[in-house]
Amino acid sequence: MSVAILGISAFYHDSAAALIIDGEIVAAAQEERFTRKKHDPEFPKNAIDYCLSEGGLKPERLDYIAFYDKPLTKFDRLLETYLAYAPVGFRSFRLAMPIWLKEKLYTRRTLRQHFKHAPQAKIVFTDHHESHAASAFFPSPFDAAAILTLDGVGEWSTAILGSGEGNKVRLLRQLQFPHSLGLLYSAFTYYCGFKVNSGEYKLMGLAPYGRPTYYDVIVQKLLDLKADGSFWMNMDYFNYCQGLTMTNGRFHELFAGPPRAPESMLEQRHMDIAASIQKITEEVILRMAAEAHRETKLRNLVLAGGVALNCVANGRLLREGPFENIWIQPAAGDAGGALGAAMFVWHQLLDRPRQATPHDSQKGSLLGPQFSNETIGSFLKETGCTNERFANEGELLGVVAHELKEGKIVGWFHGRMEFGPRALGARSILGDARHPAMQSKMNVKIKFRESFRPFAPCVLQERVSDVFEMKPRRESPYMLLVAPLSPKHRVSLTDAERQQMESDPDLRKRVNLVRSKFPAITHVDYSARIQTVDERRHGRFYRLLKAFEELTGSPALVNTSFNVRGEPIVCTPQDAYRCFLATDMDVLVMEDFVLRKEQMKERLSAAEREKHLAQFQLD
Ligand SMILES: [Fe+2]
Repeated sequence: MSVAILGISAFYHDSAAALIIDGEIVAAAQEERFTRKKHDPEFPKNAIDYCLSEGGLKPERLDYIAFYDKPLTKFDRLLETYLAYAPVGFRSFRLAMPIWLKEKLYTRRTLRQHFKHAPQAKIVFTDHHESHAASAFFPSPFDAAAILTLDGVGEWSTAILGSGEGNKVRLLRQLQFPHSLGLLYSAFTYYCGFKVNSGEYKLMGLAPYGRPTYYDVIVQKLLDLKADGSFWMNMDYFNYCQGLTMTNGRFHELFAGPPRAPESMLEQRHMDIAASIQKITEEVILRMAAEAHRETKLRNLVLAGGVALNCVANGRLLREGPFENIWIQPAAGDAGGALGAAMFVWHQLLDRPRQATPHDSQKGSLLGPQFSNETIGSFLKETGCTNERFANEGELLGVVAHELKEGKIVGWFHGRMEFGPRALGARSILGDARHPAMQSKMNVKIKFRESFRPFAPCVLQERVSDVFEMKPRRESPYMLLVAPLSPKHRVSLTDAERQQMESDPDLRKRVNLVRSKFPAITHVDYSARIQTVDERRHGRFYRLLKAFEELTGSPALVNTSFNVRGEPIVCTPQDAYRCFLATDMDVLVMEDFVLRKEQMKERLSAAEREKHLAQFQLD
């Protein structure tokens, strides 16, 4: 009889569910994809239903339900923190209370109620960082590895140094709240005018424009950083223990001004602050990794927790760190905790053996719903829109490659949806990375933003070192590593351009200066956030890149998520079709079907488009 374990993360940020049967990952998805509410923290009932149907299971067949953290211990932290600062902080305490008293404290009851037809299923609560650690190690390709988990905060821990061997993880040391690399980074995210728990990647993208001129201030005033990467934060400058903001007046004084208002002009000061905190983050991670290496003497490192999405730091870790190999859980944030909790039960608690597979057991993180040609065909028939179906894959890919070469923007919907924050070629928007106007075109016509950040590239695995400074066999299938563009593809700037590059107050003009043969994906410091694409993991998406390469010689494409700003990545053909109509995307490919906007009479009016976009809160 097989053993079915459902993992759940909920009630904080990015709720998700994951199903494993006899240790194999069967399905995993974030709730936001179904409810269309980005980072949806509610109980993930849609994701649970999906996982069960993917596994062909009724709830009564579940053996275990694993919840990714311990709400009571978390509540204990909340209370103790409040008492330590009381009476200051009463307002934030009072605001937090109702939700705790309503649902968080009674998670067990909520679970029992939801699974009332599954009284046989045992409910297990794993520790937050155990869940992260399990999500990092168990699916990884390593028999043994050092483990680092880094995030804002779980129950009390904010970072864990541990090790994994065979079918067990061990947590060796921890850093505790309020001292937290995740919260430190979020404090600066907040200060620079981006949304906490969501805009951190923007701060990382802003850093290359600045110089780390605030490095010393941060190290002297805010942080007592030890050689082993552990640190104490000076809480006199932060407000997140007792208030509703991340930083306080002393912090603002230190950085010469109040927090930047969201969407307002970015000043050089913000860029320098971003560069400074990014540098410190990298340093902390490098030191922690060195310590993990000293302590475990292992060759491999695995990472999880929200901070592990800092792909610039990950890239440095790979190039400069002591570890030979690194694997990062693609759903590194709390969504991945659902998967980790389930795997923790299987290996750690039930002591089931684990066989590491050479390319990991995460299945490309393509663990969500897929839709057949029949389903898509009948949906398209309902819409009555003009489309073409290609029964022959070679022909289909030839046509799509040709459209891409012509500078067209293509929505690509194929196979199972991604688990984790990145689009990896199942729900992606693609374009020719060589096209000088592609970055600005995609931003304006699709995402309705003018961003200072370039897009990310996907590249054929076998050609990664032709384009980037990365070893030929080095994989980055989850887009979690940043590497520099190879110097041979860089183009030199004129003096005037260099001048503009350094000082134009409009960052969009800076990023749009053509600095390489792949301008759409090259950041101002020549870095790029890379996804390597291989046939085993990516199938048809790989063959599309191959067809594009045959046509153009270029092994790379822009790969950005299939959504508009603030919208969760599309899940269903309906979501994709709506997004296609609401933007100026030229072509939509859903499995074997191709829709070309120029051949379609369906259009949204300006008001309809506005209405569609207004559903999504800007992130
Ligand atoms: Fe976390």
